[in-house]
Amino acid sequence: MKRFLPYLKYLRGHRTYLVFALVCGAISGLVFGRGLPVVINSVFPRIFTDGPRTLPALEIIGYALLIPLVFLIRAVTQFLNNYFMSRCGIGVLEAIRVELYRKLQYLPLSYLGKNRTGDLLSRLTADTQVVQQTITSSASDLVIQPLTLVGAMSFLATIAFRYNGALMFLGSLAIIPVCVLPVRYVGKKLLKRADENQRLLGDISDLANQNLMAAREVRAFGLEEKEVDVFQRTTRRLFLVQMKVVKYSQVLSPSIEVIASLGIAFSLFYAYRAGLPLAVFTSILTALFACYEPVKKLGALHGQFTRGTASLNRIEEVLHEPVTITDPAAPVYVGRLRGDIAFGEVSFAYKTGEPVLHGLRAAIPAGTVCALVGPSGAGKTTFANLVPRFYEATAGSVSIDGHDVRAMKLADLRRNIAVVSQDPVLFNDTIYNNLLLGRTDATRNEVIAAAIDAHADDFIRTLPNGYETVVGERGSLLSGGQKQRLALARAFLRNAPILILDEATSALDSQSEQFIQEALQKLVVGKTVLIIAHRFSTIRDASMILVFDRGQIAATGTHAQLYAANPLYKSLYDRQTGAT
Ligand SMILES: Nc1ncnc2c1ncn2[C@@H]1O[C@H](COP(=O)(O)OP(=O)(O)OP(=O)(O)O)[C@@H](O)[C@H]1O
Ligand SMILES: [Mg+2]
Repeated sequence: MKRFLPYLKYLRGHRTYLVFALVCGAISGLVFGRGLPVVINSVFPRIFTDGPRTLPALEIIGYALLIPLVFLIRAVTQFLNNYFMSRCGIGVLEAIRVELYRKLQYLPLSYLGKNRTGDLLSRLTADTQVVQQTITSSASDLVIQPLTLVGAMSFLATIAFRYNGALMFLGSLAIIPVCVLPVRYVGKKLLKRADENQRLLGDISDLANQNLMAAREVRAFGLEEKEVDVFQRTTRRLFLVQMKVVKYSQVLSPSIEVIASLGIAFSLFYAYRAGLPLAVFTSILTALFACYEPVKKLGALHGQFTRGTASLNRIEEVLHEPVTITDPAAPVYVGRLRGDIAFGEVSFAYKTGEPVLHGLRAAIPAGTVCALVGPSGAGKTTFANLVPRFYEATAGSVSIDGHDVRAMKLADLRRNIAVVSQDPVLFNDTIYNNLLLGRTDATRNEVIAAAIDAHADDFIRTLPNGYETVVGERGSLLSGGQKQRLALARAFLRNAPILILDEATSALDSQSEQFIQEALQKLVVGKTVLIIAHRFSTIRDASMILVFDRGQIAATGTHAQLYAANPLYKSLYDRQTGAT
């Protein structure tokens, strides 16, 4: 229960509905818990008299209708209570869901790298769903049931007072605390299973996500049945855990009913001894029933809360994860940077204790086209990722124009950098909107000019809907070369002083290749460029080359210098060009 309290702050905007819902819930609970026994107690003795039954028909009908009246009031107020409580609850949930999504936008890439996408998706959908169920079911029971209990108990107390039956009153109610025992026992069991249940759902979502992303590989390698097999083993584990959850949550109500029936037996015994009239005893039974029903419901609600807690824990694991890459407390103001990049003794490790960059130093003056070359895994991409602060250096500092990147606002820093990744990702939207991501306030003419510069305009115009063509998930309806040109157009549009390019390793046909080279040559003019180069033409044209080797910069220079002096560079270059 109390785990949910911090989220009450989201109720602020729903106050009126909440108050209205609470009032309706109170009426509903009291009318049923107290009203029904009172009606029975006052009406039955008049109808079931010992003598001849002479009441006029109209009066009897009037008495009889009192009972549906109680139920009608209860029905209407219960509906209003449920409706408006749910409205508040679902509103709160919406806020939590958005907060979670916002958090996912700001968490460092290292966090997203460590956590599985499918599992995070499952937290965003399946876990929020469980919390929502918890909120809606508690919405209907949390007010009405306790007040029904209060209403019924107050009636029993009145009767006990009138008939001197305090012992019966206490005796039959003494059962209630006993009912709490199974609730507690089951609750503990349930929490563990519910947690396991949600984790397995995360696994399943993750398996499916990976499988769909690798649909081509699955077919190419004939993995279809193997994939089904792995999936089925996980769903089987889920089945077993779900059955335990069902067992524990369904065993509660029946056991509470059995315990509660002991209270009824006790009051029957006592009523006989105390000589209570049948009508009074009937009203006591009604009140007892009205008492145990809430206990049972609250027990079930406890189970639901336990399941909700397990899911809330999973949501909070993400919500409470510290965002380690943030704006500094007192940022230095930077407008448009010139682009002097300096690495001072920079070390970096993805995992503590396993450094992949070892005390790198480099100075890349503004306006330089700097090629990063080196064997696979030498640390080129990692190096480039430190400039826009996608990751944080573990030691040393990266600075631009003399300002440490950590001293600037992230938005200011990143506004000055355009990134074209190795495998550019497009959103499932129109080409125009995908280009616009480069700079959201660009005009249509600017967007088209950028596309022309990137040699993309020609092919875009041949598409059925031109710039309004939707590119499919991750740009799947376009060829590799087309995607790369759109990515370049996006970078043109951004027109940032620093450009980071992870050159695609995939071979393109010679025409696309040539288009991209031409586009690149235009794009790099006047900018500081870090280009992770795989093509020898790009490497040769660079005014500065950093040779990476096992997390260190082994040499710096121009092509001619390095080719003459550095054996690693010479062998890399020769291999690229096919020379022997
Ligand atoms: N997200 C990550 N988590 C953990 N280790 C990583 C991660 N990314 C890269 N590494 C490791 O860091 C080292 C440097 O990787 P990096 O991607 O920088 O190499 P690279 O020089 O760009 O190689 P390539 O030319 O193949 O792209 C490698 O040993 C790699 O295994
Ligand atoms: Mg790389």
